Amino acid sequence: MCGIVGYIGDEQATPLLLNGLKRLEYRGYDSAGIAVLDDGKISVAKAEGRLANLAATANIRGNIGIGHTRWATHGGPEVRNAHPHLSKSGRFAIVHNGIIENYKELKYFLELRGFEFVSDTDSEVIAHLIDFYYVGDVITALIKAACRLKGSYALGVICSDEPKLYAVKKDSPLVVGLCEKSTFIASDMQALTDKTRNFYIMDNGEIAVIGKDARILNMNGEPIKKSVYHAVWDNAVAQKQGYAHFMLKEIHEQPQAIKRTLDAHMNSSLDFLDGINSIHIIGCGSAYHAALMGKYIIESLTGIRVNADIASEFRYRNPIIRGDDLLLAISQSGETADTIGALKIGAGRCKSACIVNVPESTLTHISSPMYTLAGPEVAVATTKGFTTQLLNLYIIAMNLLRRLGDDRYKLLEREIYSLPSLVSKTLALEPQMQQLGVRIAPHDYAFFIGRGADYAAAKESALKLKEISYVHADCYPAGELKHGTISLIEKGSIVVAIATDRALLDKTVSNIIEVKARGAFVIGISCFDLSNVCDVTVNIPRATFVSPLLATVVCQMLSYYTASARGCDIDKPRNLAKSVTVE
Ligand code: BG6
Repeated sequence: MCGIVGYIGDEQATPLLLNGLKRLEYRGYDSAGIAVLDDGKISVAKAEGRLANLAATANIRGNIGIGHTRWATHGGPEVRNAHPHLSKSGRFAIVHNGIIENYKELKYFLELRGFEFVSDTDSEVIAHLIDFYYVGDVITALIKAACRLKGSYALGVICSDEPKLYAVKKDSPLVVGLCEKSTFIASDMQALTDKTRNFYIMDNGEIAVIGKDARILNMNGEPIKKSVYHAVWDNAVAQKQGYAHFMLKEIHEQPQAIKRTLDAHMNSSLDFLDGINSIHIIGCGSAYHAALMGKYIIESLTGIRVNADIASEFRYRNPIIRGDDLLLAISQSGETADTIGALKIGAGRCKSACIVNVPESTLTHISSPMYTLAGPEVAVATTKGFTTQLLNLYIIAMNLLRRLGDDRYKLLEREIYSLPSLVSKTLALEPQMQQLGVRIAPHDYAFFIGRGADYAAAKESALKLKEISYVHADCYPAGELKHGTISLIEKGSIVVAIATDRALLDKTVSNIIEVKARGAFVIGISCFDLSNVCDVTVNIPRATFVSPLLATVVCQMLSYYTASARGCDIDKPRNLAKSVTVE
C-alpha cells in the first residue's frame, strides 16, 4: 500500500520527508520519491527499491515538500512510475495513494489537448488535470480536477506559484499533523507520532490548504471547522526496543496487548449485539482467519448462526442479508479496500460493527468500532493485531452467552481474564520453536492440518509461515487430507497438526497416523499428549476455550524462526503490504 507524507515549515523538508517515509515503510513499497519547493522552483528525486537509494540521491533543498512510497499497481516499479508526478507545465507536483478508476478516459481527454505522459500510472493524470484547470487559483483547480476523478485518492500537492502544501481526500486515508511551527500531512498518524500527537483526521471531500495555518475546505471551497484528534499511541511502542525485528517484539507484546484490550471491553454492553439473530463476519488475510475462528467459537457456544467470508468474495456474491443480521468487519488497519467495500454492502440493510486496531481509521467512521488495543503494529505479518481480534470475538461470544442467560459465560469470562498469563506461558516455548524453525527452514513445502477452530488456527499459521519465510505452506481440514492432498505427502514432508479440541482429538490423531504412514515428519501442537503419534510435540498450556489462540502464538514463533533461519526480510516480506487500500 502506498504511503504519503508532506511538510511545510521553517526547516529543510528533505530529511523530514525521508523520516516520515521511513515510518511508513511497513506499508510495503518498491519505489519512493520526494519533491520540494524552494523560491518558486520544484525539485524532484526518485529511486527504485529501498529508501536508502532515494536518500542517496535526494540532495534537494526547500522548506515545503511531499514524499511517497509506491506499492506498484498500474505500471511496474520503475523510477518513471514512482511518485511525485509533475504536471506538464512543471508547476504542480503530486503524490497519490488510491486508484483512479477512470484514468484511461482522462488520459485520452488530456492527450487530445497536448498533454504528454511519461509514466504508465493512473496517478499521473491527476497532475496534468490540475494543470489543465489551473488559471491562477490552486484551490479552484484542485476542486475542478477532484470532481473529474472517479475512484479513491489521498493526494499531496505542491505548486511552484504558491508557498503552500495542499491535500485532498476521498476513500484513502489522510491526516494533517499539527505542530507549533510546522504542519505535516501523512497517510496515517504512525508516520508523524515522533513529531506531533495532534491531528486533523481528513474526511472524504475535504481539502487541506496549509500555509502559516492549516485550513480545511469542502468541495465548494468553504471552510470546515475540524476538531483536533489527540493521538495517545506511545511513540516508543513504534520502535524495535532491542528486538531483532518488529515482528518478534510484537509477538512478545501480546500479553500486554491482550490485557489492554480485555480491560476495555469486558464490561462493555456491546450495544451493536442488541436484537441480532445472525452474524456475517468479513475480513482479508489474517483478519479473515480471525473471522473463520469467530464462526466456530460463537456458533459452538451460542447456537447463533455465523457466516465467515473473505471480504473480496462477500461483496460480489450478492449475499443474503436480513434486517436482524450483524455485519462485522475485522481489519487491523481499518483501511483495507475490500473490507470497506464489503461492509458498505450492508449499509442500510443491517447493523454493522468493526474490530479495528488503528484509531479513527475509515472503518471506524462507517460502523460501530470495537477497538483492539494492540498499539501500533509495524511488521507486515500481523501477530498481536490478530490475537486481539480473536480476543474481541471471544468477548462477543461471552456477551452473547450472558444475554442468553447461559451461565457458561462465567467460565469463558474467567478464562479470558487468564489469557494474558496463558499467552505468557505459551511464549516460554520460544526456545523449542527456534529449534523447530531451523528444522523446517530447508523445506520448501509444509502442510498444516486441524479440525474446527483448530482448522482456522492452522489456516492462519500456514499464512504466517508463507508470508515471511516464502515456504509454500498450505492448510487443509484434517478430515479432508485423504480426499486428494495426501497424494503430495512423501517421506520427510513437514506436517503441522493442531489438535486442541478433545471432542475431535481421536479423529485428528487418525489423520496424523495417515500421513505418518506415508513418511511425513509431524509436529503436533496440542494441550494433550501426542508424543506416541507425532515426531515432535509442542505442549501448549491447557485451556477450555482459548487453546486455538494459543496454538497460533506457537506458530507465530515457528514462522518467525523459520524465516530467520532462511535469512528472509521478516518485517517487510517481498510483494506484501501491511494493508491494501486498493482493490
Ligand atoms: C494484508 C496483510 O495486506 O492485509 C495481512 O499483509 C492482513 O497481514 C490483510 O491480514 C488484512 O489487513 P487488515 O488491515 O484489513 O487486517
